[in-house]
Amino acid sequence: MGRALKFNIFRYNPQDPESVPHMETFTLEETERMTLFIALTRIREEQDPSLQFDFCCRAGICGSCAMVINGRPGLACKTLTKDLPDEITLLPLPVFKLIGDLSVDTGTWFRAMNEKVGSWIHTSKTFDPSQEEERMDNALAEEIYELERCVECGCCVASCGTANMRDEFMGAVAMNRIARFMLDPRDERDTDDFFEIIGTDEGIFGCMGLLACEDVCPKNLPLQDQLGILRRKMGWNALKNIFKSKKA
Ligand code: SF4
Ligand code: F3S
Ligand code: FES
Repeated sequence: MGRALKFNIFRYNPQDPESVPHMETFTLEETERMTLFIALTRIREEQDPSLQFDFCCRAGICGSCAMVINGRPGLACKTLTKDLPDEITLLPLPVFKLIGDLSVDTGTWFRAMNEKVGSWIHTSKTFDPSQEEERMDNALAEEIYELERCVECGCCVASCGTANMRDEFMGAVAMNRIARFMLDPRDERDTDDFFEIIGTDEGIFGCMGLLACEDVCPKNLPLQDQLGILRRKMGWNALKNIFKSKKA
């Protein structure tokens, strides 16, 4: 016999005028290697077909299954029930628009953020598929790849006090995007262009250094390092511009 797990799950359907936000309790016998994905699927199949939650890859790749698990944002498909106590409370991620129960719309938020930071390679070169792509130094490619691993799950945003208080704050995930494109030699934007985007209260100056973003990132992205590096680079860049204007 496995443990009897008690799930307290947030229920609310904003599409239904009769629906009111409340918690609902389900019990389930734990099985070996049970993840929250398996548990929620069983609850939906065996106890309540109306339960809403998101899953796609079940492998920590698509980022769609993020939710607040016993007070901490995380990926449900990568969370084993054996690592949790007998009583498990599941809430939808804050900050994002609620679709219903545990399902939120992270796509709209991430699209807006990606548009704000210009999250693509800005180049005047035209792409010719018949030509080989220019080679990049391996160490640099790996450094860029490290920052590319974000799955846009939203855990860092949901855990951030600033993002919870201020709709316009772009979050550590946006600084990570900027850091990634600053490294890329194919991107023709210069340092001033990048700092114009994040040198605001919506960007790096809005960050209060609360650190939760890095603590909860399921891909272990070095978000704190990026925030620190960008702050230092911004300081040097501001000094450089002051010297330049004095010389002129
Ligand atoms: Fe998720 Fe980490 Fe990307 Fe934030 S930086 S969206 S926590 S993968
Ligand atoms: Fe938020 Fe991370 Fe800054 S939690 S306040 S973005 S250090
Ligand atoms: Fe894709 Fe969990 S279902 S990350």
